[in-house]
Amino acid sequence: MTTDKNRVIIFDTTLRDGEQSPGCSMTLSEKLRVAEALEHLGVDVIEAGFAIASNGDFESVSQVAGLLKETSVCSLARASRKDIDRAAEALKKAVRPRIHTFISTSPLHMKYKLQMTPEEVIEHIVDSVTYARNLCDDVEWSCEDGTRTEEDFLYRTIELAIKAGATTINVPDTVGYTTPDEYRLIMENIIKNVPNSDKAVFSTHCHNDLGLAVSNSIAAVQGGARQIECTVNGIGERAGNAALEEIIMAFRTRQDVMPYHTGIIAENIISTSRLVSSVTGLEVQHNKAIVGANAFAHESGIHQDGMLKNAGTYEIMTPESVGLKKSELVMGKHSGRHAFREKLKDLGYQLGDNEFLSAFTRFKDLADMKKALYDDDIIALVDEDQRDNDYMTLENWAFVCDNDKPSRASFCLNVDGYKVTVSREGNGPVDASFKALRSLADGEPHLQLYQVHAVTRGTDAQAEVTVRLEEDGRTVNGHGAHVDTLVASVKAYINALNKLRVKRQKTVPAAMGE
Ligand code: KIV
Ligand code: ZN
Repeated sequence: MTTDKNRVIIFDTTLRDGEQSPGCSMTLSEKLRVAEALEHLGVDVIEAGFAIASNGDFESVSQVAGLLKETSVCSLARASRKDIDRAAEALKKAVRPRIHTFISTSPLHMKYKLQMTPEEVIEHIVDSVTYARNLCDDVEWSCEDGTRTEEDFLYRTIELAIKAGATTINVPDTVGYTTPDEYRLIMENIIKNVPNSDKAVFSTHCHNDLGLAVSNSIAAVQGGARQIECTVNGIGERAGNAALEEIIMAFRTRQDVMPYHTGIIAENIISTSRLVSSVTGLEVQHNKAIVGANAFAHESGIHQDGMLKNAGTYEIMTPESVGLKKSELVMGKHSGRHAFREKLKDLGYQLGDNEFLSAFTRFKDLADMKKALYDDDIIALVDEDQRDNDYMTLENWAFVCDNDKPSRASFCLNVDGYKVTVSREGNGPVDASFKALRSLADGEPHLQLYQVHAVTRGTDAQAEVTVRLEEDGRTVNGHGAHVDTLVASVKAYINALNKLRVKRQKTVPAAMGE
């Protein structure tokens, strides 16, 4: 890492804290695609998961570790030797492994969550960091709920963690409670009052409960932190984490007041954002800064007039600087393989031969159904094609929707390798379809959200559907795209069922100990 004093390390936790977002869960292959995209984006550290949480999490940390060529790969671990062993094992193949161990330090968390005295917490810190450091040279320690921790206790724990071998100290605003001025001061005071603070890099980890995560992260950097923990699109627990793209573009656009820099290639922001949104099923709100659909749209006549005269009148950064290109009318029925491959490259996809063939076949099918194909159509098609590890896939369908009899949906599916047919009636074809699919589910999922939008313009536009299912407190978002809205809806429901199965296999670790 550079010795430049204004270089800020970007620690991305989309695959760990981001995956803890309600409704978000990614399959192994989706995580690998996101990890590769994050490496192309230029992040320094990827927190790939919580290795002890489940065999699936262990496997994804391990495979991400084996896949990445330059980026540091990290696994989360509680302050227990069992967790740390599992993290170290999962990171074996990493070029640059990092173990991230944490324990709560606020009075509230120690008393109620951990049920430990402050002295017991101190013992856990020393033991866990020493143990981790014997297995890995790069150890990060986090004082969970750091911003609600008593000052003197915070300094003491940090000093001991550094002494035990921690190289990065992360001070999380776990509940999104702090404010920019307060957090900046916390950081400045830690660096001033902890005697060995010069031996570690200080890090921010902000949640967005009050909408302050990005401002707080920047304030911490102004107070001396040199690592920011963040996620793409700001996904994460509850209201999410600090949004990577907002921090990066704030630094870039306001170098005059924030002279910090990172290794991020900003032109890869949009493609990474789209990928994360597609695999998690979590749509980006339209007016979200940097990556929202309206972020660079100018609606009012006065603004449009100003923009035509000089783009600087209403634009503080260009769409191109974050990799946004117009969704162009690009291809049609007669476009060949070569043109399709070039287009995929242009959109940031690198497909293997089999994936390419499958995408090309689907592209031709789509071109038969739809005259004009835009960039966004191709993005929707490829994203959909890259979903795998599915136990249930749709093969054939039929819908009956007459005005004088109940609607009926009938499907032929592949479920765990077996052909299954199912048919149900309902109040309209969507209701009939969801009833039929629900009858095949392992558990009892409840529909929480059904949302449809058009990928592009025109009545032959592909529909992109999101279905959110909930079962026993677990929520997942399924996604489907097709020129037929009913088929897109069915695909989205099936995608949600597939994700629910993955999520069922995952256990969420409790605070400590078991
Ligand atoms: O929000 C938090 O405190 C965390 C820690 C585990 C770093 O995610
Ligand atoms: Zn967090």
